Amino acid sequence: MQVNNSVALVTGANGGIGSHFVDELLRHEAAKIYVCARSLEKLSGLVALDPSRIVPIALDVTNPQSVETAATHCQDVTVLINNAGTSLNQGLIAADNLDGARAEIEVNYFGMLSMCRAFAPVLKQNGGGAIVNMLSLLGRVNLPFSGSYSASKAAAISMTQGVRAELAAQNTLVVGVMPGTVDTDLANEWPNPKVAPAEVAKATLQALIDNVEDVYPGEQAKTVSALLLSDPKAAEKYMAKFLPGMMLAGTDA
Ligand SMILES: NC(=O)c1ccc[n+]([C@@H]2O[C@H](COP(=O)([O-])OP(=O)(O)OC[C@H]3O[C@@H](n4cnc5c(N)ncnc54)[C@H](OP(=O)(O)O)[C@@H]3O)[C@@H](O)[C@H]2O)c1
Repeated sequence: MQVNNSVALVTGANGGIGSHFVDELLRHEAAKIYVCARSLEKLSGLVALDPSRIVPIALDVTNPQSVETAATHCQDVTVLINNAGTSLNQGLIAADNLDGARAEIEVNYFGMLSMCRAFAPVLKQNGGGAIVNMLSLLGRVNLPFSGSYSASKAAAISMTQGVRAELAAQNTLVVGVMPGTVDTDLANEWPNPKVAPAEVAKATLQALIDNVEDVYPGEQAKTVSALLLSDPKAAEKYMAKFLPGMMLAGTDA
């Protein structure tokens, strides 16, 4: 997959990892980058990096009209980076009700799926291109501290596999990224170690260039994914120690 001269679209571009995707795309000489956020005001700093190549777009991935408008407007996209995500750090049983779990699945699963569906024809008309889905190691093994978030990412991993199969015929590369803990606002309450968001963006673009479908950026992701292969029950038991409501920030996992 060629990243230089590509036309990329990044959802949640104003967020921790999202803004690093934009930096990396600039570094790899993407021709145009649509940067998306729910609020356009949050994008002025990013656009200032290179107003000739960076185009701001208002996008809420949970709003079907907003997704459709983005797809209609951005017909030249060749690389879709589904980065937008949310975590409310709630347990599955400990949460007062299902509102948080529904909000997470709306963004992390339905939002991502609706972007894949809206942009599949755009990518096809542009020769295939690529989709990058920001998933999580927590989709491979549940962290009870953020149990409903983990479940939403598990759904997104399964969805990514299905989308990959369905889009193979149109030559669309579908890449799933499964980092461990990344040093952004989303993981403020999670324990160390944390991989730098710049490292996640860099590893992801390299995977695109190398046609690698499953990306595990950082040491933690590599160690846990290896354990999931060799002893999945040990990985589950290890994560089971991190229960809802614990004070995890500043501790080491
Ligand atoms: N941080 C980690 O440890 C970690 C680990 C593995 C995977 N990830 C995944 O990496 C991705 C980026 O996360 P991050 O760590 O950079 O978190 P972040 O700093 O909280 O950024 C999340 C971004 O998603 C946007 N977003 C949330 N809901 C949205 C919606 N309905 N429509 C459009 N945009 C929406 C946010 O926009 P607003 O500013 O408007 O809220 C923000 O720009 C997420 O998918 C996350 O699940 C993170």
